[in-house]
Amino acid sequence: MTAEKTVYIKTYGCQMNVYDSDRMSDSLAPLGYRQTDVIEAADLIILNTCHIREKAAEKVYSELGRIRQVKAERRAAGQATMVAVAGCVAQAEGEEIIRRAPVVDMVFGPQAYHRLPDLIDRAARGERPSDLAEAAAPFKTAAPAKVVATDFPIEDKFDSLPPVSAERTRSRGVTAFLTVQEGCDKFCTFCVVPYTRGAEVSRPAGKVLAEARALVAAGVREVTLLGQNVNAYHGEGEDGDDWTLARLIRALARIPGLDRLRYTTSHPRDMGEDLIGAHRDLPQLMPYLHLPVQSGSDRILAAMNRRHTADDYLRLVERIRAARPDIALSGDFIVGFPGETDADFEATLALVRAVGYAGCFTFKYSPRPGTPASDLDGQVPETVKTERLHRLQALIDDQERRFAAGLVGRTLPVLLEKAGRLPGQLVGRSPYLHPVHVTAPAGLIGSIAPVAITSTGRHSLNGDVVPSDGAEPGASPAVRLSA
Ligand code: 5AD
Ligand code: SF4
Repeated sequence: MTAEKTVYIKTYGCQMNVYDSDRMSDSLAPLGYRQTDVIEAADLIILNTCHIREKAAEKVYSELGRIRQVKAERRAAGQATMVAVAGCVAQAEGEEIIRRAPVVDMVFGPQAYHRLPDLIDRAARGERPSDLAEAAAPFKTAAPAKVVATDFPIEDKFDSLPPVSAERTRSRGVTAFLTVQEGCDKFCTFCVVPYTRGAEVSRPAGKVLAEARALVAAGVREVTLLGQNVNAYHGEGEDGDDWTLARLIRALARIPGLDRLRYTTSHPRDMGEDLIGAHRDLPQLMPYLHLPVQSGSDRILAAMNRRHTADDYLRLVERIRAARPDIALSGDFIVGFPGETDADFEATLALVRAVGYAGCFTFKYSPRPGTPASDLDGQVPETVKTERLHRLQALIDDQERRFAAGLVGRTLPVLLEKAGRLPGQLVGRSPYLHPVHVTAPAGLIGSIAPVAITSTGRHSLNGDVVPSDGAEPGASPAVRLSA
């Protein structure tokens, strides 16, 4: 019998990190580790980090400062604490972390999670982080000067992690992430992902389908397929053919009980006709698409190495809307990319007006060491970036409000996920990914209920469950409608 220990995992950044943290936690369970939310109570602290923008990386160092104190206090009380840095900061600047933060016992990149039990064992026996870094190859490429993980097939990691367990999934709820693709070959000139996550690799369809079935058996009703470039998915199919994301989604849609499917993040160049067709044909595929364009200026798009024009994107949006007219579109935008002029920025505003988004993420350009754009002339002053960000955000906020206001008065199928902050309140998701607040009994968690939308919040909707039998809202039995 293994002695019980506790692990505290803090996750930064994207949904793939959330998925990876869950899988790390699964791999630690057989060693006797139980997850805790209290950092002071943790025998093992893992920071699963994000390197996409400078601010994200800096947060890790300030958290390590706090952890140094926690570790010292625990040591004074006679308790040992092991500290690990995982994720993309670890991958990109592992040696720097070891130099700057001696509190750290272990560093390992996203392709080494399946080695976690072994690394813990070695750290516990007193090996130094630099030795462990060797074991956690491909960490050795500390600076993002080379593509990593090319000799590190993704299934190494996924095959060696324990399969999703019904018991642990149940405690995580009715929605789940499922990584189907990892890494990126696009090399946008601002982005660290191709260096930290490595080359693009797709998991075989059979493995994805098996994981999805296990999730459904554990009570999951909505799965979001994850990949840095998810619509570039080309995994080995169950029939030996190369499957596209659309074929994978069609196969997933045949799993009974898997009522809702989503996928993120997509690149405009990989938005194939069959995937657009899946949005037209499959009721399980939710009408929401995150399709970053980054800029509306062709000059900047070229400098970013996006390899499409603003017009290509607008025509693509037209085709997607022809297939699924109500689709909610979201995107990512970077303002202040090197060389961005006022005219370039106006072109971005014009593109946003032409598309009409349901919501977007906006970022100030952040130079990332080792990426081509960080060396470009014409870096934009911070004040200009801030001003542009505010103007863009105001336009997008307005579009988001309009999209949400257009849903008031409609009845939407809402997957009720969990208790809300107020007593008697539940929170679910609209097909368009808005959080929806309703007053309803906890017994409805896990069901897809028809909800009449009555008002909008800042980034959410409010509504009433529509009684199916004339009963008062909230008194209805657990309806299990399909989306
Ligand atoms: N600076 C600012 N934003 C960035 N992103 C990626 N790299 C950078 C960077 N260097 C944004 C892009 C991407 C999102 C995940 O993060 O918009 O789509
Ligand atoms: Fe980064 Fe571009 Fe790849 Fe997206 S497509 S992960 S922005 S390099």
